Amino acid sequence: MSQQALLQVKDLRVNFPQGRGKVFQALKGISLDIQPGETVGLVGESGSGKTTVGRVILGLTEATSGDVWFDGENITHASRERRRTLGRDIQVVFQDPYGSLNPARTIGDTLAEPLMNDKSLSRNDIAERVAEVLQQVGMPADTASRYPGMFSGGQRQRIAIARAVIAKPRLIVCDEPVSALDLSVQAQVLNLLKSLQQSMGLAMLFISHDLTVVRHVSHRTVVLYRGDIVEQGDAGQVHERPEHPYTRALLAAAPVPDPLIQRERRAQFDLARQALSGLI
Ligand SMILES: Nc1ncnc2c1ncn2[C@@H]1O[C@H](COP(=O)(O)OP(=O)(O)OP(=O)(O)O)[C@@H](O)[C@H]1O
Ligand SMILES: [Mg+2]
Repeated sequence: MSQQALLQVKDLRVNFPQGRGKVFQALKGISLDIQPGETVGLVGESGSGKTTVGRVILGLTEATSGDVWFDGENITHASRERRRTLGRDIQVVFQDPYGSLNPARTIGDTLAEPLMNDKSLSRNDIAERVAEVLQQVGMPADTASRYPGMFSGGQRQRIAIARAVIAKPRLIVCDEPVSALDLSVQAQVLNLLKSLQQSMGLAMLFISHDLTVVRHVSHRTVVLYRGDIVEQGDAGQVHERPEHPYTRALLAAAPVPDPLIQRERRAQFDLARQALSGLI
């Protein structure tokens, strides 16, 4: 590879203690890379370990073994202080737009927070940057003086995205960013993420249980099954010509508008499921 990866996850294992000396292996030695400006989709069913990958990258969950490298630096066991400064380069958008914004603070204060450490910025600079980012995410300028309770789920997710991008990070971890939203709003928020990714040259780890959603925003797709990567490749290829039976099963499980196609897909899903028990 000619270019150095922005993020490298190497042979990452995470065990969770289950009591009486037993452990649950949530991640069984996974490796993945994200290039600068690249969106990697991480897909898998509930419990496959997607959020755990994101949390280790963000320093919220401890790796049992293996490493996470960011821009040539091993950040697996970064100090609290280093984590705080890394927050400028690595940002996050969570699933729940209701829980992720402080209800007691104005949107303007919430958005200004990531900029507060930058001593070169005056109050005026910060106010300008807040107005600019609100415009970028398609929110009216008066949003800054209002509180989260005044906005819908989709609008809050736009605000959470604004907070994530305001300090111009290099990597954003998006953990099911549209899963809590209505279908019609999902597409708008996905398009927003995609256009910001392109215009800002952001790298993204885009986590979702829905392969179709992942396909829409990702350059590359990584499929996780019970803590192991079973397939990865070009997003179009993984979506249109999945090689692994588990990926086919995931695809078959995705809802489609046509009931006939849906029925056929479900039948495929059941077959793939049966085949899986013998395979993995
Ligand atoms: N702190 C923890 N302690 C014990 N087990 C945990 C902990 N966090 C996660 N797990 C377990 O690890 C597995 C992977 O969890 P994770 O949240 O990464 O899955 P996921 O793929 O994000 O699922 P979902 O699609 O439901 O969000 C699950 O079986 C979960 O119960
Ligand atoms: Mg999760």
